[in-house]
Amino acid sequence: MTFLEGGPALAEIHWHPPSSPESAARAEALFASSFDGAPAGVWSAPGRANLIGEHVDYVGGICLPLALPQRTWLAVRPRTDGLLRLVSGQCPEVWQGAVRAVRPGHPRGWPAYLAGVVWALISEGLLPAGFGGVDVAVHSDVPLGAGLSSSAALECALAVALAELFGSGSSLDTAGRSALVKACIRAENEIALAATGGMDQTVALHARTGHCLRLDCDSGAVDPLPLPLDANGLVLLVINTNAPHRLVDGQYRARRVVVERAARLLRVPTLRRISSVQDAVGRLAALGEDDPELLRRVRHAISETARAGAAARLLVEGRLAELGPLLDASHTSLREDYEVSSLELDNVVDAAKEAGALGARMVGGGFGGSALALVETAAVPAVTEAVLAATEAKALPTPTFLHALPGPSAARWS
Ligand code: GLA
Repeated sequence: MTFLEGGPALAEIHWHPPSSPESAARAEALFASSFDGAPAGVWSAPGRANLIGEHVDYVGGICLPLALPQRTWLAVRPRTDGLLRLVSGQCPEVWQGAVRAVRPGHPRGWPAYLAGVVWALISEGLLPAGFGGVDVAVHSDVPLGAGLSSSAALECALAVALAELFGSGSSLDTAGRSALVKACIRAENEIALAATGGMDQTVALHARTGHCLRLDCDSGAVDPLPLPLDANGLVLLVINTNAPHRLVDGQYRARRVVVERAARLLRVPTLRRISSVQDAVGRLAALGEDDPELLRRVRHAISETARAGAAARLLVEGRLAELGPLLDASHTSLREDYEVSSLELDNVVDAAKEAGALGARMVGGGFGGSALALVETAAVPAVTEAVLAATEAKALPTPTFLHALPGPSAARWS
């Protein structure tokens, strides 16, 4: 990217993902050094950013995620003895366990996402009950714990691998991919015990290059929307704060519990069925419900879906440069009403905006992780420089930057 030439602290800007052949070769090399022989193939799935529509997938809302060029790479080979053997570049000790021993809460840590997919595919009838197991070696270019959905990338890469190795010809058409989305969500919710909403798995399996998806999490509709950033002289800059983020620590689940309680009080299946914040507040007041925390959470859920709907309309009209105020309002709502931001996130968002970003917001589950900024191409060096200076001034972890060029969905490499 020529506009970064001579720019600030280039060593800290992970601008391009490594090339695909290099990443695939790393997964293969890890496979060869951990297990005997060669894999049956290599598959990969992307991490994700989300343009807008945060923390609304589990309330039937609208979100606009896109696949990152950074992907997680899996070298995979079937077994016949009912064992799973899993190894990752980040944790080179092989994890081994029986397929039939996989259950809620077991295994723990990263193997849960892979073992969970095997379990869920069997539960959904997409793998035979007597499935013989699999060896998997993982190399990930999706930064871990950065709120960029490295776990869904793991799940979805294995799901497509097993669908290709064991499924019918239709298992990777649109309906087949939707069935894999469902299985991957079950793996995450029921085995890894993360109460997440499904946006990440949907985009990993349905993404389209150059597009974001408009997910209607009420109707289930998935519509690609063109995101011609380059042609509009724009860059979507992902800023990884490098502050640790964890979804399984109860905060995410706690948010979900509150908005689901609100939906029950309002006697609707999800908050999506409520037309406006005023309507929700009025109806809750009539029920004698005035808990300020509940009202703030509801206000975020309803207003964020309205913003995501407005952003989708701007994209349809090709008005990308006008997205900024919606991104800013999303961040304010996530910070003030949903309370899922953090000092590090607020700091990079403020710095990016002061340096000329058109809009900026935290992305993903929050409590650390990453933010994104919509930036005119020429302003990228100034924005990255300002973000680095602002974090240095507060002695916060040094952020890293990714160029969120919308990439393709999970697929076979070789
Ligand atoms: C995480 C979850 C998603 C979604 C986002 C917040 O990434 O996995 O389901 O809820 O947080 O939008």
